[in-house]
Amino acid sequence: MAAPIDRVGIVGCGTMGSGIAEVCAMAGIDVRVAVSGRDSEYRGRNRLTASLDRAVSKGRLTESARDNALSRVSFVTELEGLADRQLVIESVVEDEQAKLHVFKDLDRVLDAPDVVLASNTSSIPIIRLAHATSRPESVVGIHFFNPVPVLPLVELVASLATDDTTRGVVERFAVDRLGKQVVWSPDRAGFMVNALLIPYLLNAIRMVESGFTSAESLDRAMELGCNHPMGPLRLADLIGLDVVASIAEAMYQEFKEPLHAPPPLLLRMVEGKALGRKSGGGFHHYA
Ligand code: 3HC
Repeated sequence: MAAPIDRVGIVGCGTMGSGIAEVCAMAGIDVRVAVSGRDSEYRGRNRLTASLDRAVSKGRLTESARDNALSRVSFVTELEGLADRQLVIESVVEDEQAKLHVFKDLDRVLDAPDVVLASNTSSIPIIRLAHATSRPESVVGIHFFNPVPVLPLVELVASLATDDTTRGVVERFAVDRLGKQVVWSPDRAGFMVNALLIPYLLNAIRMVESGFTSAESLDRAMELGCNHPMGPLRLADLIGLDVVASIAEAMYQEFKEPLHAPPPLLLRMVEGKALGRKSGGGFHHYA
């Protein structure tokens, strides 16, 4: 059986990358994050620190536990800095070309034969990323949910090429090291959760776009009528409207079904940089 994972690399430190770094560091794992430059490092470090500070202020974490977690996270600006990692999780923008580029480069710089290469993609079939490398058997999907420290699920995705060793490594990592719960999904665009979630969010956007109802009213209806923690427009804002649009596009490419086509309102908002919570506004405003 492969050794337990004690050294993780993460590529990208946006909302998801920093959340993954946080849960790994809190689990006692040595985390190295590869970012594109010092600005990204600054923003990623701030995101991570703010989230841990919030846990301290809520009384869920002591100051020394926060400091210990932060001390386990280091940053590099070259992928070569991940050479000694046992598992590398790619978490860059939801763009197939960008991800293919990262997997090609990781394949070049990671020499250890047993290193596992994972993607946190929300929608791109894993087999495509696997075949950007010379070791498709070691490539797997490990899909976290936002906010990563709060949501218990990790969706694991084996491609047709993923071998049993790799499956075992990531399942033990997610369950035993991170304390998450897992489901295994088939390797098709959107996997399991987004296969249901994205058409629901797109329908909500179409209802607002057509003037049928307002974002406030629809969110309130789903929160109070179905006991959802947040309604669909607030949730789309949390995920990021650019991310919702990218996932929808990937699913539309795969299935060619109108239900996956991103509505014009969503595309215009993305083009207008109204990306949701991270930009200060989307379907709702955020201070
Ligand atoms: N990081 C860490 N902890 C956070 C957090 C964050 N970003 N956001 C909230 N929390 C914690 C709070 O500190 C609080 O903890 P406490 O109970 O110990 O004090 C707890 O979560 C509840 O938070 P709040 O009281 O501030 O707010 P809410 O009760 O409204 O919960 C929420 C916020 C957890 C975001 C909740 O509304 C929720 O679960 N929403 C649904 C989120 C969801 O569906 N995510 C999945 C998106 S799909 C996805 O990610 C896949 C991708 O591919 C698109």
